[in-house]
Amino acid sequence: MRTVPDFPEPGVLFRDLNPLFADAEAVRVVIDAMAAGLPEDVDVIAPVEARGFLLGGGLSIAMGVGMVPVRKPGKLPVVADRVDYSLEYGTASLELPAGVLRPGQRVAVVDDVLATGGTVAAVCELVERAGAEVAVVSVVLELPALGGRSLLGGRNVLALQSIT
Ligand code: PRP
Ligand code: HPA
Repeated sequence: MRTVPDFPEPGVLFRDLNPLFADAEAVRVVIDAMAAGLPEDVDVIAPVEARGFLLGGGLSIAMGVGMVPVRKPGKLPVVADRVDYSLEYGTASLELPAGVLRPGQRVAVVDDVLATGGTVAAVCELVERAGAEVAVVSVVLELPALGGRSLLGGRNVLALQSIT
């Protein structure tokens, strides 16, 4: 990965994972490590648009479980629920598709980066309001200086790497 200052706005030090995604061996190592860390009883993966989708497909195949994509507004034809939340650089909303996540399912929330935690906290809220359970939050990179875990209560959070 590489660090890009002042993106997407002045003062933000942006950790860019595109070099990782462009490297086949790095993608394999990351997917294998994420798969190895997930509890065996996970029923379904909930990857987050957009960069979580880059990981969700590979992880779904590696683990032999399906996906419930959590999407930005206006993309889903049938919406179960929506959460609005704050980001490090703005505000955003996420939606859960209707009729695919079943109550009681154990869900792995998957994304590339845990920064302020607003995004995955919103996904956890969507999952739990649907009556399912967050078994784990799995990310490639955690930025602990932004305090994301504090928004996630006692939930199980796995990060492959952490940088300050
Ligand atoms: C980025 C990243 C995470 C989130 C992390 O997504 O992929 O989803 O921000 O930040 P947080 O922990 O402060 O919520 P972004 O909203 O930029 O969208 P993208 O995946 O479409 O680029
Ligand atoms: N890098 C990638 N995604 C992010 C970041 C970052 O530094 N902060 C919030 N989302």
